[in-house]
Amino acid sequence: MNTLRLNAQQGQDIVTAADLLQQGKLVAVPTETVYGLAADASNPSAVSGIFTAKGRPANHPLIVHLHAITAMTNWAKDIPAAAWQLAEAFWPGPLTLLLPKADHVSPVITGGLNSIGLRMPAHPALLQVLQLNQLAVAAPSANRYKKLSPTSAEQVLAGLHGRIDAVLDGGECEHGVESTIVDLTGEPIRIVRAGPITASQLQAVLKTTVLQPQQHQAQVPGNVDAHYQPNTPLRCLDSAQLHALLLEQPSNIAVLHLNALPTAQAGIICKQMPTDAAGYASQLYRQLYQADKLGVTAIWCELPPQGEAWLAVHDRLRRAQHSAY
Ligand code: TXA
Ligand code: MG
Repeated sequence: MNTLRLNAQQGQDIVTAADLLQQGKLVAVPTETVYGLAADASNPSAVSGIFTAKGRPANHPLIVHLHAITAMTNWAKDIPAAAWQLAEAFWPGPLTLLLPKADHVSPVITGGLNSIGLRMPAHPALLQVLQLNQLAVAAPSANRYKKLSPTSAEQVLAGLHGRIDAVLDGGECEHGVESTIVDLTGEPIRIVRAGPITASQLQAVLKTTVLQPQQHQAQVPGNVDAHYQPNTPLRCLDSAQLHALLLEQPSNIAVLHLNALPTAQAGIICKQMPTDAAGYASQLYRQLYQADKLGVTAIWCELPPQGEAWLAVHDRLRRAQHSAY
Protein backbone atom coordinates (compact mmCIF):
# COMPACT_ATOMS: atom_id res chain seq x y z
CA MET A 1 0.00 0.00 0.00
CA ASN A 2 1.26 3.48 -0.85
CA THR A 3 0.90 5.83 2.11
CA LEU A 4 -0.21 9.27 0.95
CA ARG A 5 1.41 12.23 2.73
CA LEU A 6 -1.08 15.07 3.23
CA ASN A 7 -0.29 18.57 4.49
CA ALA A 8 -2.61 20.07 7.10
CA GLN A 9 -1.77 23.58 5.83
CA GLN A 10 -3.51 22.80 2.54
CA GLY A 11 -7.31 23.04 2.53
CA GLN A 12 -7.55 20.45 -0.24
CA ASP A 13 -5.58 17.94 1.81
CA ILE A 14 -7.96 18.38 4.75
CA VAL A 15 -10.84 17.53 2.40
CA THR A 16 -8.92 14.51 1.07
CA ALA A 17 -8.30 13.25 4.62
CA ALA A 18 -12.01 13.58 5.45
CA ASP A 19 -13.01 11.81 2.22
CA LEU A 20 -10.58 8.94 2.77
CA LEU A 21 -11.96 8.42 6.29
CA GLN A 22 -15.52 8.45 4.99
CA GLN A 23 -14.53 5.79 2.45
CA GLY A 24 -13.38 3.53 5.27
CA LYS A 25 -9.64 4.17 4.88
CA LEU A 26 -7.02 4.51 7.63
CA VAL A 27 -5.55 8.00 8.07
CA ALA A 28 -3.00 9.02 10.72
CA VAL A 29 -4.02 12.41 12.08
CA PRO A 30 -2.38 15.00 14.31
CA THR A 31 -3.85 15.66 17.74
CA GLU A 32 -2.63 18.00 20.46
CA THR A 33 -1.35 14.94 22.42
CA VAL A 34 0.17 12.44 19.96
CA TYR A 35 -0.68 11.35 16.40
CA GLY A 36 -3.70 9.02 16.17
CA LEU A 37 -4.47 6.31 13.62
CA ALA A 38 -8.04 7.13 12.64
CA ALA A 39 -10.92 5.19 11.08
CA ASP A 40 -14.62 6.05 10.79
CA ALA A 41 -16.06 4.93 14.14
CA SER A 42 -19.42 4.06 12.53
CA ASN A 43 -17.71 1.56 10.20
CA PRO A 44 -16.58 -1.55 12.17
CA SER A 45 -14.70 -3.08 9.26
CA ALA A 46 -12.68 0.13 8.83
CA VAL A 47 -12.01 0.16 12.58
CA SER A 48 -10.82 -3.45 12.54
CA GLY A 49 -8.14 -2.39 10.02
CA ILE A 50 -6.55 -0.31 12.79
CA PHE A 51 -5.74 -3.47 14.77
CA THR A 52 -4.11 -5.09 11.75
CA ALA A 53 -2.04 -2.03 10.87
CA LYS A 54 -0.78 -1.61 14.45
CA GLY A 55 -0.49 -5.29 15.35
CA ARG A 56 -2.70 -4.48 18.35
CA PRO A 57 -4.64 -7.19 20.26
CA ALA A 58 -8.35 -7.06 19.41
CA ASN A 59 -9.52 -6.70 23.05
CA HIS A 60 -7.77 -3.34 23.56
CA PRO A 61 -10.47 -0.63 23.46
CA LEU A 62 -10.16 2.47 21.28
CA ILE A 63 -10.97 6.11 22.06
CA VAL A 64 -13.61 7.74 19.83
CA HIS A 65 -12.81 11.34 18.82
CA LEU A 66 -15.79 13.69 18.46
CA HIS A 67 -16.34 16.85 16.40
CA ALA A 68 -18.49 18.50 19.12
CA ILE A 69 -19.41 18.09 22.79
CA THR A 70 -23.04 17.35 21.89
CA ALA A 71 -21.93 14.30 19.87
CA MET A 72 -21.32 12.54 23.21
CA THR A 73 -24.95 11.35 23.15
CA ASN A 74 -24.33 9.48 19.86
CA TRP A 75 -21.82 7.16 21.57
CA ALA A 76 -22.61 7.05 25.30
CA LYS A 77 -25.74 6.60 27.42
CA ASP A 78 -26.67 7.46 31.04
CA ILE A 79 -24.20 10.35 30.82
CA PRO A 80 -23.66 11.80 34.32
CA ALA A 81 -23.66 15.56 34.94
CA ALA A 82 -19.94 15.35 35.77
CA ALA A 83 -19.20 14.31 32.17
CA TRP A 84 -20.91 17.40 30.76
CA GLN A 85 -19.10 19.62 33.28
CA LEU A 86 -15.71 18.16 32.35
CA ALA A 87 -16.42 18.35 28.63
CA GLU A 88 -17.45 22.00 28.93
CA ALA A 89 -14.31 22.77 30.93
CA PHE A 90 -11.66 20.79 29.02
CA TRP A 91 -12.90 20.04 25.46
CA PRO A 92 -11.56 20.40 22.95
CA GLY A 93 -8.51 19.11 24.81
CA PRO A 94 -6.43 16.25 26.22
CA LEU A 95 -9.09 14.58 28.40
CA THR A 96 -10.79 11.23 27.64
CA LEU A 97 -14.03 10.37 29.45
CA LEU A 98 -14.98 6.72 30.07
CA LEU A 99 -18.78 6.41 29.97
CA PRO A 100 -21.37 3.63 29.55
CA LYS A 101 -21.45 2.90 25.82
CA ALA A 102 -24.58 3.45 23.73
CA ASP A 103 -26.26 0.16 22.77
CA HIS A 104 -25.41 0.38 19.06
CA VAL A 105 -21.64 0.81 19.52
CA SER A 106 -19.69 -2.03 17.95
CA PRO A 107 -17.64 -4.25 20.31
CA VAL A 108 -14.81 -3.82 17.80
CA ILE A 109 -14.34 -0.30 19.25
CA THR A 110 -14.75 -1.13 22.93
CA GLY A 111 -12.90 -4.43 22.95
CA GLY A 112 -16.13 -6.02 24.16
CA LEU A 113 -16.43 -3.71 27.23
CA ASN A 114 -19.66 -1.94 28.18
CA SER A 115 -17.87 1.40 28.44
CA ILE A 116 -16.50 3.75 25.78
CA GLY A 117 -13.71 6.32 25.82
CA LEU A 118 -14.64 9.69 24.26
CA ARG A 119 -12.74 12.89 23.65
CA MET A 120 -12.95 15.99 21.49
CA PRO A 121 -9.41 16.73 20.26
CA ALA A 122 -8.03 20.28 20.04
CA HIS A 123 -5.76 20.13 16.99
CA PRO A 124 -7.38 22.54 14.50
CA ALA A 125 -6.62 20.36 11.44
CA LEU A 126 -8.25 17.29 12.98
CA LEU A 127 -11.24 19.33 14.12
CA GLN A 128 -11.69 20.55 10.55
CA VAL A 129 -11.50 16.97 9.24
CA LEU A 130 -14.13 15.82 11.77
CA GLN A 131 -16.40 18.80 11.26
CA LEU A 132 -16.44 18.53 7.45
CA ASN A 133 -18.57 15.37 7.49
CA GLN A 134 -19.60 15.44 11.18
CA LEU A 135 -17.46 12.36 11.53
CA ALA A 136 -16.39 10.53 14.69
CA VAL A 137 -13.15 8.56 14.43
CA ALA A 138 -11.78 5.73 16.52
CA ALA A 139 -8.08 6.46 16.94
CA PRO A 140 -5.37 4.86 19.04
CA SER A 141 -1.88 6.35 19.01
CA ALA A 142 -0.38 5.86 15.53
CA ASN A 143 2.45 3.54 16.53
CA ARG A 144 3.10 -0.19 16.15
CA TYR A 145 1.95 -2.09 19.23
CA LYS A 146 4.13 -1.39 22.34
CA LYS A 147 6.30 1.16 20.52
CA LEU A 148 6.66 4.87 21.22
CA SER A 149 3.68 7.05 20.38
CA PRO A 150 4.49 9.39 17.48
CA THR A 151 4.60 13.16 17.93
CA SER A 152 5.37 13.96 14.28
CA ALA A 153 4.34 12.70 10.82
CA GLU A 154 7.90 11.47 10.31
CA GLN A 155 7.60 9.24 13.39
CA VAL A 156 4.24 7.90 12.17
CA LEU A 157 5.78 6.93 8.83
CA ALA A 158 8.79 5.32 10.51
CA GLY A 159 6.41 2.76 12.02
CA LEU A 160 3.43 2.57 9.68
CA HIS A 161 4.62 3.48 6.17
CA GLY A 162 2.97 1.11 3.67
CA ARG A 163 0.46 -0.12 6.29
CA ILE A 164 -1.97 2.86 6.26
CA ASP A 165 -3.63 4.90 3.51
CA ALA A 166 -2.42 8.37 4.50
CA VAL A 167 -0.88 10.60 7.14
CA LEU A 168 -2.01 14.18 7.62
CA ASP A 169 1.08 16.18 8.61
CA GLY A 170 0.02 18.77 11.19
CA GLY A 171 3.47 19.45 12.66
CA GLU A 172 4.79 18.53 16.10
CA CYS A 173 2.24 17.66 18.80
CA GLU A 174 1.82 20.21 21.57
CA HIS A 175 1.59 18.00 24.70
CA GLY A 176 3.63 15.01 23.52
CA VAL A 177 1.97 12.49 25.88
CA GLU A 178 -1.44 10.84 25.61
CA SER A 179 -4.63 12.30 27.11
CA THR A 180 -5.64 11.93 30.74
CA ILE A 181 -8.29 9.17 30.96
CA VAL A 182 -10.94 9.57 33.65
CA ASP A 183 -13.44 6.84 34.51
CA LEU A 184 -16.96 8.16 35.04
CA THR A 185 -18.71 4.76 34.97
CA GLY A 186 -18.60 4.40 38.78
CA GLU A 187 -17.98 6.22 42.06
CA PRO A 188 -15.63 7.68 43.03
CA ILE A 189 -14.45 9.20 39.77
CA ARG A 190 -10.90 8.08 39.08
CA ILE A 191 -8.06 8.74 36.70
CA VAL A 192 -6.96 5.53 34.96
CA ARG A 193 -4.18 7.06 32.85
CA ALA A 194 -2.22 10.13 33.93
CA GLY A 195 -1.92 12.83 31.27
CA PRO A 196 -1.71 16.57 30.70
CA ILE A 197 -4.78 17.32 32.86
CA THR A 198 -4.29 16.60 36.57
CA ALA A 199 -6.66 15.36 39.30
CA SER A 200 -6.49 18.82 40.92
CA GLN A 201 -7.75 20.43 37.72
CA LEU A 202 -10.63 17.94 37.51
CA GLN A 203 -11.47 18.43 41.18
CA ALA A 204 -11.52 22.21 40.79
CA VAL A 205 -14.32 21.80 38.22
CA LEU A 206 -16.26 18.96 39.85
CA LYS A 207 -15.88 20.09 43.49
CA THR A 208 -15.56 16.40 44.42
CA THR A 209 -12.67 14.00 45.01
CA VAL A 210 -11.04 12.44 41.96
CA LEU A 211 -8.81 9.45 42.69
CA GLN A 212 -5.36 9.53 41.16
CA PRO A 213 -3.59 6.20 41.56
CA GLN A 214 0.19 6.57 41.68
CA GLN A 215 0.51 3.53 39.43
CA HIS A 216 -1.52 3.03 36.26
CA GLN A 217 -4.50 0.68 36.33
CA ALA A 218 -3.49 -2.57 34.67
CA GLN A 219 -6.98 -4.10 34.77
CA VAL A 220 -7.95 -2.31 31.55
CA PRO A 221 -6.89 -4.29 28.49
CA GLY A 222 -4.35 -2.18 26.66
CA ASN A 223 -3.17 -0.33 29.75
CA VAL A 224 -0.24 -2.69 30.08
CA ASP A 225 3.05 -2.36 31.93
CA ALA A 226 5.45 -2.75 29.04
CA HIS A 227 4.44 -0.04 26.65
CA TYR A 228 5.75 3.04 24.84
CA GLN A 229 9.13 1.41 24.52
CA PRO A 230 12.07 2.60 22.45
CA ASN A 231 14.04 -0.15 20.67
CA THR A 232 17.15 0.74 22.67
CA PRO A 233 17.03 -0.31 26.37
CA LEU A 234 16.11 2.64 28.57
CA ARG A 235 17.38 2.97 32.13
CA CYS A 236 16.02 5.57 34.53
CA LEU A 237 18.45 6.72 37.21
CA ASP A 238 18.39 9.28 39.98
CA SER A 239 21.00 12.04 39.76
CA ALA A 240 23.47 10.39 42.14
CA GLN A 241 23.30 7.04 40.30
CA LEU A 242 23.68 8.75 36.94
CA HIS A 243 26.72 10.76 38.03
CA ALA A 244 28.34 7.70 39.59
CA LEU A 245 27.88 5.67 36.41
CA LEU A 246 29.24 8.48 34.27
CA LEU A 247 32.46 8.42 36.33
CA GLU A 248 33.03 4.91 35.02
CA GLN A 249 33.49 6.46 31.57
CA PRO A 250 30.94 4.43 29.62
CA SER A 251 30.72 4.83 25.87
CA ASN A 252 28.07 4.64 23.19
CA ILE A 253 25.31 5.84 25.55
CA ALA A 254 22.67 8.55 25.07
CA VAL A 255 21.84 10.54 28.21
CA LEU A 256 18.66 12.56 28.74
CA HIS A 257 19.51 14.75 31.71
CA LEU A 258 17.97 17.56 33.73
CA ASN A 259 20.85 18.81 35.86
CA ALA A 260 24.23 19.82 34.49
CA LEU A 261 26.52 16.80 34.04
CA PRO A 262 29.73 16.68 36.12
CA THR A 263 32.20 16.70 33.22
CA ALA A 264 32.16 16.60 29.43
CA GLN A 265 32.06 12.96 28.37
CA ALA A 266 33.57 11.44 25.27
CA GLY A 267 31.44 8.74 23.61
CA ILE A 268 28.26 9.96 25.23
CA ILE A 269 25.51 11.88 23.51
CA CYS A 270 23.78 14.22 25.94
CA LYS A 271 20.45 15.95 25.66
CA GLN A 272 19.36 18.53 28.24
CA MET A 273 15.64 18.04 28.87
CA PRO A 274 13.26 20.90 29.78
CA THR A 275 12.98 21.30 33.57
CA ASP A 276 9.22 22.01 33.63
CA ALA A 277 6.80 19.07 33.44
CA ALA A 278 4.84 20.24 30.36
CA GLY A 279 8.03 21.03 28.44
CA TYR A 280 9.57 17.71 29.43
CA ALA A 281 6.46 15.75 28.38
CA SER A 282 6.37 17.49 24.99
CA GLN A 283 9.97 16.34 24.35
CA LEU A 284 9.90 12.86 25.88
CA TYR A 285 8.84 10.62 22.97
CA ARG A 286 10.63 12.85 20.46
CA GLN A 287 13.94 12.55 22.30
CA LEU A 288 13.55 8.78 22.86
CA TYR A 289 12.84 8.43 19.13
CA GLN A 290 15.92 10.52 18.25
CA ALA A 291 18.09 8.57 20.70
CA ASP A 292 16.85 5.32 19.13
CA LYS A 293 18.22 6.44 15.77
CA LEU A 294 21.75 7.01 17.15
CA GLY A 295 22.72 3.34 17.34
CA VAL A 296 23.73 3.64 21.02
CA THR A 297 23.65 0.58 23.29
CA ALA A 298 21.51 2.21 25.99
CA ILE A 299 19.57 5.35 26.84
CA TRP A 300 20.08 6.66 30.35
CA CYS A 301 17.48 9.04 31.69
CA GLU A 302 17.84 11.20 34.79
CA LEU A 303 14.64 10.84 36.81
CA PRO A 304 12.56 14.03 37.04
CA PRO A 305 11.16 15.36 40.33
CA GLN A 306 8.05 13.89 41.97
CA GLY A 307 4.76 15.79 42.20
CA GLU A 308 1.37 15.80 40.54
CA ALA A 309 2.49 17.70 37.44
CA TRP A 310 5.09 14.98 36.73
CA LEU A 311 2.81 11.91 37.11
CA ALA A 312 2.25 11.43 33.37
CA VAL A 313 5.99 11.66 32.67
CA HIS A 314 6.83 9.13 35.42
CA ASP A 315 4.10 6.79 34.17
CA ARG A 316 5.48 6.82 30.61
CA LEU A 317 9.11 6.49 31.76
CA ARG A 318 8.22 3.54 33.98
CA ARG A 319 6.59 1.77 31.06
CA ALA A 320 9.25 2.74 28.53
CA GLN A 321 11.94 1.25 30.75
CA HIS A 322 12.29 -2.48 30.28
CA SER A 323 11.94 -3.08 34.05
CA ALA A 324 10.34 -1.19 36.96
CA TYR A 325 12.12 1.64 38.81
O1 TXA B 1 -4.18 11.27 23.61
C1 TXA B 1 -4.71 10.19 23.35
O2 TXA B 1 -5.54 9.64 24.12
C2 TXA B 1 -4.33 9.50 22.06
C3 TXA B 1 -4.77 10.39 20.90
C4 TXA B 1 -4.55 9.75 19.56
O3 TXA B 1 -6.11 10.76 21.08
N1 TXA B 1 -4.92 8.20 21.95
C5 TXA B 1 -4.46 7.13 22.64
O4 TXA B 1 -5.10 5.95 22.33
O5 TXA B 1 -3.56 7.19 23.46
P1 TXA B 1 -4.54 4.51 22.73
O6 TXA B 1 -5.44 3.53 22.10
O7 TXA B 1 -3.10 4.43 22.36
O8 TXA B 1 -4.73 4.44 24.28
C6 TXA B 1 -6.04 4.46 24.76
C7 TXA B 1 -6.18 3.64 25.99
C8 TXA B 1 -6.33 2.15 25.75
O9 TXA B 1 -5.11 1.47 25.73
C9 TXA B 1 -7.17 1.72 26.92
O10 TXA B 1 -6.31 1.41 27.99
C10 TXA B 1 -7.96 2.96 27.27
O11 TXA B 1 -7.45 4.01 26.53
N2 TXA B 1 -9.37 2.83 26.93
C11 TXA B 1 -10.02 3.16 25.79
N3 TXA B 1 -11.31 2.85 25.86
C12 TXA B 1 -11.51 2.33 27.07
C13 TXA B 1 -12.63 1.79 27.76
N4 TXA B 1 -13.83 1.71 27.19
N5 TXA B 1 -12.45 1.34 29.01
C14 TXA B 1 -11.25 1.39 29.59
N6 TXA B 1 -10.15 1.86 29.00
C15 TXA B 1 -10.27 2.32 27.76
MG1 MG C 1 -1.20 3.93 22.47
